Amino acid sequence: MPVPPTQPVLAMDGVVVRFGGVVALDGVHLEVDPGEVLGVIGPNGAGKTTLFNVACGFVPPTEGRLSFEGADVTGWQPHHLVDHGVARSLQGLGLFDRLSVVDNVLVGGDRHAKKGFLSSLLATPAATRDEAALRERAMEVLERLDIGHRAEETVGSLPYPLRKRVALARALVSEPRLLLLDEPAAGLSESEMSELGDIISGLAGEMSVMLVEHHMDLVMRVCHRLTVLDFGRVIATGSPDQVRNDPAVLEAYLGAAVEETPTKEPNGA
Ligand SMILES: Nc1ncnc2c1ncn2[C@@H]1O[C@H](COP(=O)(O)OP(=O)(O)OP(=O)(O)O)[C@@H](O)[C@H]1O
Ligand SMILES: [Mg+2]
Repeated sequence: MPVPPTQPVLAMDGVVVRFGGVVALDGVHLEVDPGEVLGVIGPNGAGKTTLFNVACGFVPPTEGRLSFEGADVTGWQPHHLVDHGVARSLQGLGLFDRLSVVDNVLVGGDRHAKKGFLSSLLATPAATRDEAALRERAMEVLERLDIGHRAEETVGSLPYPLRKRVALARALVSEPRLLLLDEPAAGLSESEMSELGDIISGLAGEMSVMLVEHHMDLVMRVCHRLTVLDFGRVIATGSPDQVRNDPAVLEAYLGAAVEETPTKEPNGA
């Protein structure tokens, strides 16, 4: 009997997104396999953010299908996707500045709780047990991200790179099967970016990750495969090495790089 192919965790099939007359995505096919880190790259305006928003459920495809673990989830609301195991960490971190680190993480964790975080405030016995278990898991995630010792501090008092880690912890505490990251390296120093790379590599295997990111060195280091967008279309998919040497990719980036290079004044005259 033939071995059944591995079912992708996330798949997009012929996804088109139009904003009025603008075609932001134009027939995109993409698959995120179990346990892999898939990078999505492309020049400015290529459609990366739109693709991320389709994966989260923020933007419904104008045409085409989105599936999660084989089930058709096209047009699902973001919170339904979260309930089924899709977590995301957005650029706008959406943290509660006056709450402690651990309380911010708890907000992300009610996917598995019998009662939600808010009803746990009513402190019924079942909710209290749930909350204790959840708090334990939140602390484990914080330890893993090396911020366990800051758990009781208010989020508003932390520097930006640590707030980003809290946002990541909040996404992880729901034990997602797919983690969606939108430019997680934005605003990080080289060494913080390198630590982030280690964290992402450490998550692979336990879950699938889709990483939308500008920073090539990070993407090349942590991604198993890359999907490259240009003008809303997939122009290449493959390993980092395949993509790095793909003529269509070089052309897309070179074109963009040439536009961004400041023109030099000729010396003397
Ligand atoms: N809400 C919107 N309404 C109209 N046009 C939009 C909207 N969102 C995106 N677009 C357009 O769709 C195209 C793709 O945009 P998108 O933001 O997805 O690209 P991107 O790859 O994320 O770019 P960047 O690298 O600059 O972040 C662009 O032409 C953009 O102007
Ligand atoms: Mg973008």
